[in-house]
Amino acid sequence: MKNIKKILNSYSQKFNLKLAAFFPLPDGEEKRVVEAMKYSVMNGGKRLRPYLVSETAKLFGVSETKSLRTAAALEMFHSYSLIHDDLPAMDNDDLRRGKPTCHKQFDEATAILAGDGLLTYAFEILSDKKTADTETRCELIRYLANAAGAFTGMIAGQMVDLYAEKISPKHQNETLIKHIEEMKTGRLIRYACEAGAILGKATKKQRQALIDYSRKIGIAFQIADDILDVEGNADLVGKTLQKDEKQGKITFVSLYGLSNARKIAKDLIDQAQKALDIFGSKAENLKLLAQYIIDRKY
Ligand code: IPE
Ligand code: IPE
Ligand code: MG
Ligand code: MG
Ligand code: MG
Repeated sequence: MKNIKKILNSYSQKFNLKLAAFFPLPDGEEKRVVEAMKYSVMNGGKRLRPYLVSETAKLFGVSETKSLRTAAALEMFHSYSLIHDDLPAMDNDDLRRGKPTCHKQFDEATAILAGDGLLTYAFEILSDKKTADTETRCELIRYLANAAGAFTGMIAGQMVDLYAEKISPKHQNETLIKHIEEMKTGRLIRYACEAGAILGKATKKQRQALIDYSRKIGIAFQIADDILDVEGNADLVGKTLQKDEKQGKITFVSLYGLSNARKIAKDLIDQAQKALDIFGSKAENLKLLAQYIIDRKY
C-alpha cells in the first residue's frame, strides 16, 4: 500500500523550495517584518493544506505547477492565522513547530505585522494573473475571504473559541464545539479542497463531493489536534501541550473524553472517504490522507 506520510513529505520538500522563493528580503528597515513572515512560514509545517489544494486540483488534470500559487497563498494565510493564534492576547504560546513563536523570536508588534503581511500577501498572490484566468482567480479570492472571515469563517471560529473559554461547563455542548471547530479550522481545510475544485472547473456534483470530504476531515483534523494536546509527544508535536484544559478551551475531548473523541473522529474519516467514491482510484491519496489526519503524531 502507498505510504501517504512519505508522499506528503516529498510534496513538502518540493513545495518548500518554491515557497521560499516568494520571500526576497528588502534592503530597508522593513526587512524585519519580511524576515518574521519567512521565519513563520518556512519553519517546518506539515503543508497539509497546500497538499490538499494540489491533490484535489490533480483530480481534474491540473498540474502541481499550475496549483502552486494557490497552494502557497493558502499556506501563507494559514501561517498568519497561527502567528496571531499564538499571541499573548490569544492562546499565549511560546512554541510553534518546535521553535519559538513569532512574537518570542521577534517581538509582539513585529508578529502582528508579520501576520498582517502574510494575510495581504496571500491575496496579492491569488489576484496575480499568473495564478489563473480572471474568473477563476476572482472565485479563489472570494472564497478565501469568506472562509477566513468574521461571519462564518476562521475569524468567527477564533472569536467563539475565545468566548467559550469563559463560559461555564453547563453551557458547553456539541453544537457549540462543532461550530467552533468547523469555523476555526474546518473552513480553511474546506477552502483547500474547494480551491482544487475551482482551479479544475469541477462540476457541481464533483465540487459537492469535495466539500463533503473536506468538512468531515476538517472537524476530524481539529479533534486530532485536541487529542494531541492531551496525549501527544511534545517533541514531536512541537507545541506546549496540555494547554487546552488549563485555558478552559472546549473541545470534543473536554466534552466526551479521549476514547469517544477518537471514535467520533474515526466515523468522520469513514464518511469522508466514502464521499470520494465518485472519483474512483484517482482519489486514493486523498482517502489515505484522511486516515493519516487522525493517525498523525504531530
Ligand atoms: C495547526 O495546524 C492549527 C490547527 C488548525 C489545529 P497544523 O497542525 O496544520 O499546523 P502545521 O502547519 O503543520 O504547523
Ligand atoms: C487554531 O486552533 C486554529 C487557528 C489557528 C485558526 P488551536 O489554537 O487549537 O491550534 P494550535 O493547537 O495552537 O496549533
Ligand atoms: Mg487557538
Ligand atoms: Mg492555539
Ligand atoms: Mg490546539
